[in-house]
Amino acid sequence: MFSDNLLNGKNILITGGGTGLGKQMAETFLKLGATVSIVSRHEEHLIGAKNHFSKMGYHIEAEKCDVRNPEELKSAIDAIEKKTGSINVLVNNAAGNFISKTEDLSPKAFDTVIGIVLNGSSYASLEMGKRWIKNSIKGTILSIVATYAWTGSGYVVPSAIAKAGVLALTRSLAAEWGHYGIRTVAIAPGAFRTEGAWSRLLPGEEYEKEIIDGNPERRLGTKEEVANIGAFLISDLASYINGDVITADGGQSLYGASFFNMMEKLPDDLWKMMRQR
Ligand code: HXC
Ligand code: NAP
Repeated sequence: MFSDNLLNGKNILITGGGTGLGKQMAETFLKLGATVSIVSRHEEHLIGAKNHFSKMGYHIEAEKCDVRNPEELKSAIDAIEKKTGSINVLVNNAAGNFISKTEDLSPKAFDTVIGIVLNGSSYASLEMGKRWIKNSIKGTILSIVATYAWTGSGYVVPSAIAKAGVLALTRSLAAEWGHYGIRTVAIAPGAFRTEGAWSRLLPGEEYEKEIIDGNPERRLGTKEEVANIGAFLISDLASYINGDVITADGGQSLYGASFFNMMEKLPDDLWKMMRQR
């Protein structure tokens, strides 16, 4: 569907791009002709990704930075722009999350998740937006949210609060910065097996089966499925999409929400009886 040069001229910064979905987006965007840089906290993730892409024949810039710290973000972006030129796409992908009963959380636990997801995405968007407006760059911000940004979810309450905020950021900036030619868009992924998410969210293998059984497609998503939507949304093919979110969850969030979907388990004789009645 995509031509190999779809993302030529895109100079992309992915926060948390050294692992999981962020790393897959980096790979997909590189293959489509983009220049890609990543930032995150851990050297091993940055160096690991850099070496991984180098073996594939691609060069990426990687800077250590905690998105909760606006000064660190600014320095990392300065360093990357010095080497690659002006960034014109920001992917707010970095996240922190873990399951917990809410009553067991400390205020610091809330601050930590909200700090990474909501503050980090806000600081990065602000830093890039200021540069783009000053230099008349028509940039794009893609944020990775979750379907519980709308519905909320128990046991991941700080993450749900933060993702709802990032969704509001996406919609608000679309309205405010659209006239500068800046687009803000988002993807709401369903369940994707990544080391980062699975280790913090699933108590055991059997819970993966529950997730799969609770999905109308009876499967998890693949990382490529998110990355391909990302490639479309940041490309010029999506130039009139602004402030919107594409959900990629195989229908999971709708399946759980509707009263009658449980009738899937109804045996044929009961369907017959209902029709006769
Ligand atoms: C309760 C916890 C906790 C847990 C940490 N805390 N883990 N509380 N249950 N499992 C509390 C700590 O006790 C501490 O509070 C506070 O949170 C900060 O913890 P630190 O370990 O000091 O934080 P830090 O080193 O900054 O690490 C951040 C982190 C960590 C979020 C806690 O897990 C991390 O680095 N995560 C990054 C990657 C990640 O989370 N990926 C998953 C994304 S999946 P006190 O008061 O005790 O000091 C995702 C999508 C989900 O977002 C959607 C699926 C459908
Ligand atoms: P992941 O591999 O754990 O990715 C999170 C990344 O964020 C890591 O690379 C981590 O790198 C970085 N990060 C965390 N805190 C940071 C900070 N303070 N500063 C800078 N970087 C930081 O998990 P993932 O599953 O790929 O998640 C990627 C995105 O998809 C997240 O936004 C997540 O909420 C979203 N999502 C995932 C799923 C899923 O099922 N996997 C579902 C819905 C939404 P460092 O440790 O090196 O900092």
